Amino acid sequence: MPGGVTTDVKTYSMLIDGEWMASKSGRTFPVYDPSTEEVIAQVPDANTDDVNRAVAAAKAAFEEGPWATTTAQERGRVLFRLAEKIRQNLPMLAEIECRNSGKPIVEAEFDINDVATCFEYYGGLATKVVGYVNPVPDNAMSLSLKEPVGVAGQIIPWNYPLLMAAWKLAPALAAGCTCVLKPAEQTPLTALEMAKWFEEVGMPKGVVNVITGFGESCGSPLVKHPDVNKIAFTGSAAVGKIIVKEAADTVKRVTLELGGKSPNIFFADADFEAAIDGALFGVFINQGEICSAGSRILVEKSIYGKFVDAMAEKAKKIKIGPPLERETKMGALVSKEQYDRVCSYIEIGKKEAKVASGGGRADKFTSGYYVQPTIFYNVSNNARIAREEIFGPVAAVIPFEDEKDALKIANDSPYGLAAAVWTRDIFKAMRTVKALRTGIVWVNHMQPTYVEAPWGGYKQSGFGRELGPWGIEEYLETKQVYINLNEAPIGWY
Ligand code: NAI
Ligand code: MG
Repeated sequence: MPGGVTTDVKTYSMLIDGEWMASKSGRTFPVYDPSTEEVIAQVPDANTDDVNRAVAAAKAAFEEGPWATTTAQERGRVLFRLAEKIRQNLPMLAEIECRNSGKPIVEAEFDINDVATCFEYYGGLATKVVGYVNPVPDNAMSLSLKEPVGVAGQIIPWNYPLLMAAWKLAPALAAGCTCVLKPAEQTPLTALEMAKWFEEVGMPKGVVNVITGFGESCGSPLVKHPDVNKIAFTGSAAVGKIIVKEAADTVKRVTLELGGKSPNIFFADADFEAAIDGALFGVFINQGEICSAGSRILVEKSIYGKFVDAMAEKAKKIKIGPPLERETKMGALVSKEQYDRVCSYIEIGKKEAKVASGGGRADKFTSGYYVQPTIFYNVSNNARIAREEIFGPVAAVIPFEDEKDALKIANDSPYGLAAAVWTRDIFKAMRTVKALRTGIVWVNHMQPTYVEAPWGGYKQSGFGRELGPWGIEEYLETKQVYINLNEAPIGWY
């Protein structure tokens, strides 16, 4: 790896069955600061042996440990105490998140605040899981009970490292599940930091195990493990497809939050200033490393030229800088791999369309994976930069004729995670909301995300929903119970 120094860095352990340990093989791998390309930590390189240990611990904690008999109130309190620890340590966590992921410190602070809010929300929801009495037409009582799914394997990405851990852990724990969490290999540090408080907040050993490793050697054995009852995954569509196949042999429950190519639609009557701002925010927040990025910007023909010019002018002023500086609005991309990937898409884009701003490395930096906010215009919806997820600061601005044309282009995508529409016409807005085949639609904004509201995609953006009551439902089984109230024999024979 370029520029890497491997001495004097902290070596982390991982958490299995309440014990901090190395990988069984003793191997570690380096974790980087993508803004300097320096190694900042070493973490255990977990493989099948470690996965087996973690799953055994989670299974024992689910079946025998104190977690199995815990009450919903107690589980809720554990989550509240964890949230409090996170709030107390917000600056420390935000700084590590910022250094490890390359995102601006101000965004990292927002994220860590959201992490605490997520644990608080599900701490409250733990006591609101209720069953039903089913009105069956016999002298009997029929119940449906909600029960935890069991051991959950949770595989998460690097763009919102601790927040994605919270989206997975909080509903699972509220439901009474036990977990094996595998953070992304690029960004395992904040999850390991948080895990240090598990014992103190009253989480019994084995309830959450955090193992650090790579996709094929650590994620895949977790997906295949017969004692894992459910896999929750956020990441690329390519890996999502592998996970569905690998989970099939043991018929696991699977939820997938995959990529997107989300349309951000601008009608000519939208407030122009707000629209330009919204187009930039929608695609460049978090360096564009966001599953719901508004990476296809659809603009009505009558304002197209003016729109592209205004966007480009404003994009050139976006402050790219070291992630730890508070004025920074765009930091570094997460890794060399992602940087190369995004740069290669920019080269593809140069052959497919015209560049309005950006177009490559932000070369005022001598090291670090900095990419300029890049805007392509006159993009066809058939171009690769309009169809494939880039996951970086690259916008494809596509013109449309009218409402019908806008909807046709917007829905012409293998993905269906999110969309946004900007207009002052309530009729047009509502027709668009209805016609869009996406799991999330914003009107006159893009990206606000709340733990109270459902999150997930249509089409190849995945299935299942996270957050809100939908999120806990994915960690619950439904048990039907029949209670005979008739003491006489059945009388059939
Ligand atoms: P990835 O999908 O390979 O990695 C995400 C997680 O899955 C990581 O924890 C990784 O270790 C794990 N993983 C990888 N291969 C696996 C396997 N065979 N079995 C089980 N787990 C596995 O994503 P990557 O390579 O980091 O990024 C590639 C592209 O994926 C990005 O450019 C972006 O387009 C997309 N992506 C989408 C995300 C989203 O939020 N929807 C998040 C991260 C990446
Ligand atoms: Mg990958």
